[in-house]
Amino acid sequence: MSYLHNTWYVAAWDHEVSHEKPLARKILEEPIVLFRDSMGTPQAIGDRCPHRFASLSKGCVKGNSIQCAYHGLEFDGSGKCTHNPHGKGNIPTQAKVKSYPVVERHSIVWIWMGDPAKADPETIVDYSQSLDPQKRFVAKDYLHARANYQLETDNIMDLSHIEFLHSGSLGSDAVNQAVTEVVQEGRTVFSNRLTQNERLHESLEQRYNIPEGQKVDRWLDVRWDPPANMELWVGIAPAGTPEPRQVGKRIPFNHFFTPETEKTAHYWFATSYPRRMGEAGERRANEDIKYLRGPFEAEDLPMLEAQQKLMGDADFWSLKPILLPGDAAAVRVRRVLDQLIKQEQEAL
Ligand code: FES
Ligand SMILES: [Fe+2]
Repeated sequence: MSYLHNTWYVAAWDHEVSHEKPLARKILEEPIVLFRDSMGTPQAIGDRCPHRFASLSKGCVKGNSIQCAYHGLEFDGSGKCTHNPHGKGNIPTQAKVKSYPVVERHSIVWIWMGDPAKADPETIVDYSQSLDPQKRFVAKDYLHARANYQLETDNIMDLSHIEFLHSGSLGSDAVNQAVTEVVQEGRTVFSNRLTQNERLHESLEQRYNIPEGQKVDRWLDVRWDPPANMELWVGIAPAGTPEPRQVGKRIPFNHFFTPETEKTAHYWFATSYPRRMGEAGERRANEDIKYLRGPFEAEDLPMLEAQQKLMGDADFWSLKPILLPGDAAAVRVRRVLDQLIKQEQEAL
């Protein structure tokens, strides 16, 4: 499996990384430990102590460094050994670990897995509209998936699946009549979907305060950016509204995937409401994310994990998947990502 390396991956939600407890997380098959230094700045270094290869994440954070729980060597965010409690305290030249560029922005801790000299924070996609905690109350969650991250991307880029897989919650039998379009702007792909005259599932009618049985027009517009970062805006307007996207209310749902290994992925999802809504916004965001975790965990994950099992080690395209109209966006995304990986490898 080849991954895109020179790109920003989501490593964690901001609240997952602390000064108190180091966080162990495998990313692109590399064991990493994340922690906050004494200034609260997130740091990421290789998780394997160079002495006897203990897991540094089992240690504790002291000042700006993490102390190995086995024999006490300490390493800071640059990967340098800052303290040796043994003998005269000399620091062996080999006593260092890999360090990764990290940026905290809009609820996310980003990590750069490629050449550190190329890590430019300016290239991080702007998620301030959905995830800026200064402006919005953001409710966040995490799931671990035993499936390749690109299967996860397929899942979000082709929301036609909600009619079948989520028929008891997010879907309806009108979804397959949606008007869809795929738009590409540079490395960004948009998958836009408008379903008209739809009766939502009663659990969603209640969530959106829609009178029982009242038909709506619903749009599900997803923006994808490499490697596997998505922002979905869901909007609703009374059925028959001309230009519903201009007048309806819309709510963001973010979906971020980072490969852990070839066959496992990290999955972060979130929603948010404006801070000006006060407590009601906070309550709605928390309730929405709790509601969504249900189908994501009980319906999407088992489906994706079963797909992964049946695909085994086979390359996705070698299995010659049948293509349906709803696949256009997911296929475009796979092509963009394949091209970026190819370009990166050719430049080596
Ligand atoms: S294994 Fe870390 S100090 Fe010995
Ligand atoms: Fe789903």
